[in-house]
Amino acid sequence: MPVKSTQRRSDNTPTHAGSPPPSLLRHNLLFLTKFFRHGTRIASVWPSSRFMAAASLKSIDWDQSRVIVELGAGTGPITQQALQRLRPQTRFIAIERDRDFVRILRQRFAGRTNVEIIHGDVGDLAEILAARGIERHGVDQFVSGLGTPSLPQGVQQRMFAAVRHYLKPHGVFSNITEVPWFYMRWYKAMFEDVSFQLVALNMPPGGVYHCRVPR
Ligand SMILES: C[S@@+](CC[C@H](N)C(=O)[O-])C[C@H]1O[C@@H](n2cnc3c(N)ncnc32)[C@H](O)[C@@H]1O
Repeated sequence: MPVKSTQRRSDNTPTHAGSPPPSLLRHNLLFLTKFFRHGTRIASVWPSSRFMAAASLKSIDWDQSRVIVELGAGTGPITQQALQRLRPQTRFIAIERDRDFVRILRQRFAGRTNVEIIHGDVGDLAEILAARGIERHGVDQFVSGLGTPSLPQGVQQRMFAAVRHYLKPHGVFSNITEVPWFYMRWYKAMFEDVSFQLVALNMPPGGVYHCRVPR
């Protein structure tokens, strides 16, 4: 009987040489199912591509950052790339509301002392960060995979209040989107400096808002 060779992926899960990791396909299909069941609560039909993930992490200074917080980590396409580049001295905190996605994230990214996967709601962002000893202006970058403009208003308000409190003065809030440029004015109402990066290689094509200086 032929024996397939087994390699280790960057997230340290074994995969068979020459074929796509079966677990990744399972995770993507679960994501699709959740989208059909919950719609805007999931906000996307398919997890971010590696190009979208790279764009959302573009502003991070990996050597200087001390705390990076991911919001709405899903099944972990952005988390995976972030953890490949994360320095041992940097804390990484990922927050996700869906219990099944949290289980997947913990399976994929377990075992690093500077990484925490939190089952929680971004409406409780201030409490989540305070409970972990993060101080005012203690976060270098928020990396958001949320459909932020569609979050309930109260959740948005509490989340942005926490972002204003915790983001460093020169820190960045990035947010993926599947509707290029559409929310530019919306983000400009929240931040003084907003740029948009188009990401064509994503399903569907989209991009990333890079936001600085909360209003
Ligand atoms: C568009 S998906 C993006 C997932 C992943 N970051 C990616 O790029 O593929 C948005 C994610 O945010 C999560 N989410 C939505 N509302 C949330 C909330 N209030 N608090 C925490 N996570 C939330 C959803 O469960 C979903 O996993």
